[in-house]
Amino acid sequence: MRVAIIDDSESSLSFMAGLVKSIPDCDVVTFRQSAVALPWCINNDNDIDLIVVDYCMPAPDGLHFIEAFRDHQAKSEIPIIMVTSSEVRDVRYMALQLGATDFLNKPVDAVEFLARVRNVLGAYQAHKALGDQSQWLAAEVRRATRQLVEREREAILFLARAAEHRDPETGSHLVRMARYSRLIAERLGLSSAEVEFIFTAAPLHDVGKVGIPDMILLKPGPLDEDELQVMKRHSRYGREILDGSTSPLLQLAAEIAHCHHERVDGTGYPRGLRGNDIPLAGRIVALADVFDALTSPRPYKAAWPPERAWDYVNDNRGRHFDPSCVDALFAAAEDIGQILDLIAVGLDFPRPTIPPLPPK
Ligand code: C2E
Ligand code: SIN
Ligand code: SIN
Ligand code: FE
Ligand code: FE
Repeated sequence: MRVAIIDDSESSLSFMAGLVKSIPDCDVVTFRQSAVALPWCINNDNDIDLIVVDYCMPAPDGLHFIEAFRDHQAKSEIPIIMVTSSEVRDVRYMALQLGATDFLNKPVDAVEFLARVRNVLGAYQAHKALGDQSQWLAAEVRRATRQLVEREREAILFLARAAEHRDPETGSHLVRMARYSRLIAERLGLSSAEVEFIFTAAPLHDVGKVGIPDMILLKPGPLDEDELQVMKRHSRYGREILDGSTSPLLQLAAEIAHCHHERVDGTGYPRGLRGNDIPLAGRIVALADVFDALTSPRPYKAAWPPERAWDYVNDNRGRHFDPSCVDALFAAAEDIGQILDLIAVGLDFPRPTIPPLPPK
């Protein structure tokens, strides 16, 4: 700890300095000229734990010293004790208003001085420790939050990987449909946080397909009516798998899984929701999913040429698809064209990077 003492009287200065030095672990810096002390205190505010300043001095006097110091150190909470022989109340009130912490009477009484200095130093140490602790706590909270977000993303990738093992759709389908979803969300003007959320959650839309028997899921040809009814259960299965999480990201993924086969004209499944009753994320992913299903080969169909897919989307504007989502997809046609070009020449997107499984 270090105490700065400012007093124009040499005898008073050395008396107080001697008292402070008797406190264990306490340094003292003394000044006879307050005009020298002021800039030094301002520049060394990290190294002082207490300022003791005389009131009656050549300029700046104690009041002006306190005022100037607090002016420059608005955030500093270094305690200041003013020593004064003045019994004038105004001086004391003024000093308080300017930011003095405490007063001492001149001539200085050794016992009173030491007790007062110890108290103020102790309170300031406790205050600083609290500040350090709250900073440490805040840093811990930030670190834990980052870790949670990373673990959540990891959990989502694991889920997607589990689903991929059974789904004939490739990982690059998931990457593409997530990118289409992101492009649509961006063009709709959603916030970057919402866009990122949809992009991350979209690949889980078909996770419920893990509940569909292989005979149906992997069937190379068209499904009959009964098989299609079983197949359609994947929306509800997906919601059931993802439901009940407190994670907003997984909640959104559950909503997307549940709603990605709804149609705005009410002919979709599983609930036959209409228009804006379908959550926006569901409307976005529905379009992205179908657009990619159409332009990609499936075990049950060949890939459509892009023009045919664009026509299909346009014909179903306001029927299958939300009109504003369709407009957003068309607005992103250039970006999507680039993705389709890459597919056409066989330069598809790489699979998403999935971290290795933890050791058993
Ligand atoms: P998916 O292959 O990811 O297809 C997603 C959605 O894209 C389909 O939802 C449908 O709305 C659209 N779609 C895909 N291919 C075509 C197409 O050739 N024509 C048209 N008009 N739309 C198409 P949907 O129909 O609810 O199918 C859900 C999932 O059921 C499909 O996901 C696929 O896994 C499976 N599925 C649907 N039909 C058949 C089929 O005939 N054979 C087999 N093996 N699976 C099918
Ligand atoms: C589909 O989304 O392709 C099926 C919708 C339905 O048959 O109602
Ligand atoms: C979102 O705000 O993240 C998606 C909007 C929705 O789910 O309706
Ligand atoms: Fe689906
Ligand atoms: Fe899909």
